[in-house]
Amino acid sequence: MLIVRKIREMQSIAETVRKDKIIGFVPTMGFLHEGHLSLVRKSKEMTDVTVVSIFVNPIQFGPNEDFEMYPRDLERDRSLLEKEKVDVLFIPEKDEMYGEDYKTYVRVQEMEDYLCGKTRKGHFQGVATVVTKLFNIVKPHLAFFGQKDYQQLKIIEKLVRDLNMDVNIVACPTIREPDGLAMSSRNTYLSQEERKKAQHIYMALIKAEELFKKGERNAKKLVEEARNLLSSVEGLEIEYISVVDCETLEELEWINDSGVVAIACRIGKTRLIDNTILRRYEHDESHDEIKDSQGKGY
Ligand code: PAF
Repeated sequence: MLIVRKIREMQSIAETVRKDKIIGFVPTMGFLHEGHLSLVRKSKEMTDVTVVSIFVNPIQFGPNEDFEMYPRDLERDRSLLEKEKVDVLFIPEKDEMYGEDYKTYVRVQEMEDYLCGKTRKGHFQGVATVVTKLFNIVKPHLAFFGQKDYQQLKIIEKLVRDLNMDVNIVACPTIREPDGLAMSSRNTYLSQEERKKAQHIYMALIKAEELFKKGERNAKKLVEEARNLLSSVEGLEIEYISVVDCETLEELEWINDSGVVAIACRIGKTRLIDNTILRRYEHDESHDEIKDSQGKGY
């Protein structure tokens, strides 16, 4: 696995590789888990050369958030990626990505303000900016993102469409622990007792799914049931439970064909998010084909 630390070097490798190979890209902030590795495996399956980046992006953390304490273990990450036969690991330093006179930011209006955007001001601007920079550096044909960070995924899809970026976003399913907790690097903050409480988030999503399957279309009712379940968990503080449009992320009162139930809560000092997509009709992803701007399929 080639380790690259400099932007110019990464760009020049990407330029050469792009001539006759398909580049797959998995951007991460490190402290890798099975969720990240599932993205890597998908990229290995669909592309010729897989690039993974590890960069804990300071501009997507608020002043009172966990940038300093965000878990980091480069040696462990590196050996996990070696095992997956990743081709290139891009690990820039903060100063390489944001020089002293850094001035340019990317925003996806409205979508950045809903859900997590209400409390994490500037977070999605930080994400949109770093992802734009990384796409310009790694020049991928396909980039892989998890559905667990649903708002991030939809913001990036919109960003790519609006700015006519020559990259296809591949959305990958949430990977869960055996008890249903969505995998996240932040799960390591949880004590044993907190970890047990955290499984209720998935249970609340399942509850909403069950009601939807039985025919409930009133978003308030789904939220209420999920809230009842979570309110009974001592020490779990609900930040939001919302039902939103799958694309615009606007709050829904009524679910016609589809909607997303999204939850954010705090357990102790750990903030956790999760979601589930509700669809009236089954969606067969095996029939989705990705085509690039020249109509080439993947
Ligand atoms: O999901 C993440 O790990 C980060 O938000 C990302 C996409 C790597 C940007 O820093």
